[in-house]
Amino acid sequence: MRSDSDDDVVISPPTPLNLQIAADALLRGELVCMPTETVYGIAADATNPEAVRQIFAAKDRPADNPLIVHISDFVQLEDVVSEWTDAADVLANRFWPGPLTLVLKKSEMIPNEVTGGLETVAVRMPDHPVALELIELAGIPLAAPSANRFMHLSPTRAEHVDPRIAERVAMVLDGGPCRIGLESTVVDVSVDPPRILRPGGISRGQIQAALGRPLGQLPPSDVRRSPGMYLRHYAPKAPLEFVEALEPDAVGLGFGTPRNDRQIRMPDDPNAYAAGLYAALHRLDAGNPAVIYVEHPPEEPEWEAVHDRLRKAAEPSKD
Ligand code: TXA
Ligand code: MG
Repeated sequence: MRSDSDDDVVISPPTPLNLQIAADALLRGELVCMPTETVYGIAADATNPEAVRQIFAAKDRPADNPLIVHISDFVQLEDVVSEWTDAADVLANRFWPGPLTLVLKKSEMIPNEVTGGLETVAVRMPDHPVALELIELAGIPLAAPSANRFMHLSPTRAEHVDPRIAERVAMVLDGGPCRIGLESTVVDVSVDPPRILRPGGISRGQIQAALGRPLGQLPPSDVRRSPGMYLRHYAPKAPLEFVEALEPDAVGLGFGTPRNDRQIRMPDDPNAYAAGLYAALHRLDAGNPAVIYVEHPPEEPEWEAVHDRLRKAAEPSKD
């Protein structure tokens, strides 16, 4: 029997030649998987509706789930957004390039396919030399969601890219393991006060410190505004359950000394935990366990993004 993990994904080193081939493919409307510091993305020319539609097809992603547009310098913002707010200015200057996505009014150049019909667009400047060089060579902003199938784990290494995605792209560029390992923080700066739509690589505390004021609260009725807020998301195939302490024969993530080879000792620092989380879940999931058990991480605010992803991964599957 063949399982998904049997098909090897062909990955390419980011040589100057490969980067040029990838940039040319993007300009022809094809897709490329690229590394970022958060997770691997599946990229297309953000100004080409037909190319963007192919991303949705490759991921099996609902068309109303908007994409993040990636830029390599501030000048490109003019092509992507039609307004720029004080909060956007402060946050972009402080955290770009980096794992922060800003939601602002979109420009005419960004088609509705990218934004799922919204009048706003999500934009970020990734902190990865391969992504920055690819965007620069192509000379266009790149729409790129995480390179996983809808509702699955995001790839934090080139080898994690889903084979069904890899076969639909011109190239999978290898940029090594992702330094942050969790998706970017999405902040809506089109409203005042700004608010977090998805916790991620930059913490709430860091954002509030940069702004010098508290962020707004997201009204519960707005939960579907940012589809990163679907209840179940970022999930391994195996169900995930929280426990106080791993049983000796359990498969899972803990903080103590592993008692079998399918227990992974996670770091007690939230950034280090985040950086290894998806890779750890990918590794355990490959063994098709009945359940992946997870010891509760600390409740401190710096753990917000880790809690968010674990909670979403633990949400029971509807299929
Ligand atoms: O770290 C990341 O952000 C990665 C890398 C590849 O950059 N990308 C990523 O993309 O996580 P994706 O498509 O998996 O998540 C995009 C998130 C979703 O939560 C989506 O709802 C939100 O951004 N988003 C995009 N456009 C939006 C908009 N106009 N308004 C509100 N939320 C938006
Ligand atoms: Mg995603």
